[in-house]
Amino acid sequence: MKRVGIAILGLGVVGGGAYRILTEHAEFFKKTQEVELFVQSALECNRERASALGFPQEKLASNIAEIVSDPDVQIVVEAIGGIEAAKEYVLAALHAGKTVVTSNKELYAKFSHELERAAKQHNAGLYFEASCVGGVPIIRTLLDGVQSNKVSSLMGIINGTTNYILTKMSEGMEYGQALCEAQAHGYAESDPTADVDGFDAAYKLSILASLAFHTKIPFAKVFREGIAKISLEDVADGEALGYRLKLLAIAKDTPAGVEVRVHPTFVKKEHPLASVEKNFNAVFLTGDAVGEIMLYGKGAGSLPTGSAIVSDVIFAATHVDNHYSTFKNTASAAQDVKFITDFSSAYYLRLTVDDVPGMLAKIAAVFGKQGISIVELIQRSACAGKATLVAVTHETHENAIKNSVAKFETMETVKVESVLRVAL
Ligand code: HSE
Repeated sequence: MKRVGIAILGLGVVGGGAYRILTEHAEFFKKTQEVELFVQSALECNRERASALGFPQEKLASNIAEIVSDPDVQIVVEAIGGIEAAKEYVLAALHAGKTVVTSNKELYAKFSHELERAAKQHNAGLYFEASCVGGVPIIRTLLDGVQSNKVSSLMGIINGTTNYILTKMSEGMEYGQALCEAQAHGYAESDPTADVDGFDAAYKLSILASLAFHTKIPFAKVFREGIAKISLEDVADGEALGYRLKLLAIAKDTPAGVEVRVHPTFVKKEHPLASVEKNFNAVFLTGDAVGEIMLYGKGAGSLPTGSAIVSDVIFAATHVDNHYSTFKNTASAAQDVKFITDFSSAYYLRLTVDDVPGMLAKIAAVFGKQGISIVELIQRSACAGKATLVAVTHETHENAIKNSVAKFETMETVKVESVLRVAL
């Protein structure tokens, strides 16, 4: 039986999950995959963490050179995250002809061109299923499941931490406490601002949209807004209006251009995405032949992400031809790809206004001048002669909303508290 040695860089939440699956399922893989996978070594400076996993101390390497020069290591799993050390180690492994399996979305979103070039030059495999949407096999689906289609859109919840926080906020929990819980569960990145500011979802969207649209969608082109400023009041207002707040990632390939954006979005409670809770993720794909597909599962956590890593390890160990992504191996978008920034959406606005005659007419005049039509308008008393106005608009353009907000900001009697997008 074929024997394949694996080295794991980092035995934290993700690397630890991969190690557990590789060891606990070793006999199962011999039977079902006809391959013997064994963990030859690991790079982990925290010896206690390794011990807690039951990882044999004698298999801990002292440095990356020991791993990449070991002829018994064929596959290197990178689960340390971040850029600097991860990039150096991944390139060292590829240059040594080792196949790399990575869960590192930031690394892949920013440097896929360099990594792919190194992989091709050294005839090494490069796999990254675990970089996007945890245990949900979205990359395999894009590469091997819907390649018969022209994919026109992809929309979903692709960050577990923010989905956990927003789920808890919809139950009335404060943002800070919900974030602490997400960290304790191991969903959050080591620096959770990567999650709450939308970077993590934007890295993933850049990778997924590049694969879906067969072109390079640079991370820098992804419009990004996070959830750090979301208040319980907005979440509760949305709930009362029949909406649930989600951090949505949206990519569309239209005749007018490509739209790629990550932002908090109200979705109707009856929409399937509204019931995707906690660390669960879901992605809708639309292909011209297949129509809509929805994938759903755990997008973060030790074993779900470990599942994606080990599935890549098995694929790499059982396929002789190396598998690369299909988008162009460049750092930037092709000249002919036009990115749409003035996208259309419906909007939710919460304003604090002076509670005086004629105020509603003034607000309506600002919207009217921008061609914005209101679907719902709710007024309630706020403190000391002030009122809260909550408006939900029909579909309009991002620039029309920006112009309205700019106008409101010139009015002493109006304060814009929040502006959020609403899924159509
Ligand atoms: N921090 C990420 C998330 C982990 O919350 O989704 C999985 O990429």
